[in-house]
Amino acid sequence: MSERSLLVVVLAAGEGTRMASRLPKVLHRIAGRSMLHHVLETTRQAGATRVAVVIGPDREDVAAEAHRVRPDAQVFVQTERLGTAHAVLAARAALEEPADDVLVLYADTPLLRPKTLENLRAPLADGAAVAVLGFRPADPTGYGRLLTQGDALVAIREEKDATPDERRVNFCNAGVMALRGREALSILTRIGNANAKGEYYLTDAVEIARADGLSAVATEAEVDEVAGVNSRLQLAEAEAILQGRLRRAAMAGGATLVAPETVFLSVDTRLGRDVLVEPNVVFGPGVTVEDDVVIHAFSHLEGAHLERGVSIGPYARLRPGTRLGEGVRIGNFVETKAALIDAGAKVNHLSYVGDAHVGANANVGAGTITCNYDGFSKHRTEIGAGAFIGTNSSLVAPVSVGAGAYIGSGSVITDDVPADALALGRGRQAVKEGWAAALRAARGKPKV
Ligand code: UD1
Ligand code: MG
Repeated sequence: MSERSLLVVVLAAGEGTRMASRLPKVLHRIAGRSMLHHVLETTRQAGATRVAVVIGPDREDVAAEAHRVRPDAQVFVQTERLGTAHAVLAARAALEEPADDVLVLYADTPLLRPKTLENLRAPLADGAAVAVLGFRPADPTGYGRLLTQGDALVAIREEKDATPDERRVNFCNAGVMALRGREALSILTRIGNANAKGEYYLTDAVEIARADGLSAVATEAEVDEVAGVNSRLQLAEAEAILQGRLRRAAMAGGATLVAPETVFLSVDTRLGRDVLVEPNVVFGPGVTVEDDVVIHAFSHLEGAHLERGVSIGPYARLRPGTRLGEGVRIGNFVETKAALIDAGAKVNHLSYVGDAHVGANANVGAGTITCNYDGFSKHRTEIGAGAFIGTNSSLVAPVSVGAGAYIGSGSVITDDVPADALALGRGRQAVKEGWAAALRAARGKPKV
C-alpha cells in the first residue's frame, strides 16, 4: 500500500429519486451493508488517511451512517446541486489541509475494489496531476467520454457537450478521479460552468491541469466494478455481482456451495474449510462458521458463530447472539436467539431457544420453548450440562434446570430444577375404564 497520505472525498448527495424510496439512495444495502458503508470500507482498505463525505441538506441519516462506519469522517453539506466539482468543493475545508493524494468517488458506486483505487493513484506518485478511472460499457450513452492521445488523457467530454465523433468513443469516465493534493484545490476552484448543463463539472479538471502543463492519465477498470446504482433494478444487479464475488471467495476458501446461485452471503460472512452449504441458505451480517460445519437447505443465519463440526437445519433459523459449540446439532424448524449452546448439545426439532445457555451434551426435546418474554422484559433460561428436556416442554424464564436433570415431556417449568432431579409440571393423567363404551351405550350410534 502507498505511503502517501490520502484524502478521500465521497459524494453522497444523490437523492436517488428513481429508487422510489423514503431512504436516501446511498443507505440502501447490498450484501448486508449500505452502499456508503461499502465505499468507506473500500477506501479504508485502500489506505485513506482522511475521509470527507458530502451529503445533501437535511440528511442526518447519511451523516450518522458515515460516522458509524468511520467515526473520524468529516461531513459536509452541499446545499445546492450545482455539479460534481461544486459538490467536491463543499469539502473545501478538508481540501485545504495537506494530503499527498485526493481521491473523489461516488457513494452510489459500491463495487470498486481497493486494488483498483491503488492502481489509479499509482501515476500520481510518478508525476501525474490527475488520474481518471475509465471503463468500456456496452452502451456508452450518458457517460463522459475519455479523450486520449497515447497514454495521455486530453479531456473528458460530457455526453451533452460531445461532438458526434466524440460520442463514438466508448472509453468512459467511471466517476472516480485522483488528484495530486498539491494542485487539487487550485484546479478545482478554477472549474467554471460554461457547458450544456450549466454545471460545475469535475471532469474539467483534466483540461485545466493540462493547460497548467501538468499531465493527466486514465486507467481502466472492469465494467462490473464501476456499476452505479440509480434504481432498484441496478441495486439488484449490483447485489448479484457482489454475491458472485462472495460465493467465489467462499468456495476458493474451501467451502462447498452445492448450488452457489441460491446461497446469499454478507460481506462479513466467514466460512471455514470443508464447510458444506446446501441450497437456499441466507447468511445475514455477522456470521462466522468454523471448519467442517454442515448447513442444510433453507436455513437462515445472522449474528451467529458456529464452531467446528456443527450441523444445522434443514430450516434452521439462527438469530443474533447465537453461539454453537463444537458438534452441536440444531435440527429442522428450530429458532435460536442470544443462545449459548455448548459442545455436543442437541436441539433437533421444532424448538425456540432464546436468551438461554444450554450446557454441554444436553438434549432439548422436540417442541421445547424457552418462554423468555413476559410482555415487558426478557428473562434467561439456564439448562445444565447433560440435562434432558422432554418433548413439548415450556421453560418459563427466569428459570434454571440443573446439570443432568430430567424434565418430563409436556411440562411447564416455572421453578428451578436441581441437578440430577426429575421435574414434572403437567396435568396428571386420569383413566376411567369403560367410560367410552358406556357413553356409546347411552347415546346410541354417533352421527357421522
Ligand atoms: C458523471 C460524470 C461523467 C461520468 C458519470 C459516471 C461529471 C460532470 N460527469 O456524470 O463523466 O461518466 O458521472 O457515472 O462529473 N453529485 C452531487 N452534487 C451535484 C452533482 C452531482 O453530489 O451537484 C453527485 C451525484 O449524487 C452522483 C455523482 O455526483 O453521485 C455524479 O453526478 P451525476 O449527476 O449522476 O453525474 P453524471 O451526469 O452521471
Ligand atoms: Mg450519474
